[in-house]
Amino acid sequence: MQKIIVAILFIAVVTLGACSQNQSNTKALEAKVDSLQKQVNNSYKPGLGEFMSGIQVHHAKLWFAGINSNWKLADFEIHEIMEALDDIQMYCTDRPESKKVVMLQPAIDSLNKTIAAQNVPAFKNAFVFLTQTCNSCHRAVNYNFNDVVIPTTPPFSNQLFTVPKQ
Ligand code: HEC
Repeated sequence: MQKIIVAILFIAVVTLGACSQNQSNTKALEAKVDSLQKQVNNSYKPGLGEFMSGIQVHHAKLWFAGINSNWKLADFEIHEIMEALDDIQMYCTDRPESKKVVMLQPAIDSLNKTIAAQNVPAFKNAFVFLTQTCNSCHRAVNYNFNDVVIPTTPPFSNQLFTVPKQ
């Protein structure tokens, strides 16, 4: 009889031990999740204005690449703009304006076609359409003081916009 009681007590102690072990594991995991959550909350996320400044640079580079028939560079620059627009939708959800970036899609589609067709006059028209759409959004979100224009001088002197000589 005593042996049975000891066995039952032994099982009870082992079971309780395992439970409290589980509890402390859960506590440790909770603490880990909390600290990871804090890290995520405090991690750096670029704001809409920073993405726009990047887009501004690619917009200017795209123009000089296109008018100089540097189609590989033009293709690269338009993809940089497309990536930034995707990122805005992913990272700037706190800004309601972000949802409106999709309005650039028709202009981007036109530009992609002119780049693939390597057609400078069509490229210029599509670029004007893109720039007008940038400003349509700026007006729609009350940033009309922010007027984007067709650039007149290359944004950088340390990059070639013509087709490089091989
Ligand atoms: C969602 C609508 C929207 C579209 C489309 C849009 N913008 Fe903007 N843009 C904004 C908003 C909002 C701001 C102000 C961001 C801020 O709060 O800093 C801004 C700011 C800017 C700025 C000012 C940055 C600075 O610091 O001076 C430039 C330049 C700019 N946009 C260029 C462009 C260009 C070029 C395009 C088109 C290729 C474009 N934007 C398309 C909404 C838009």
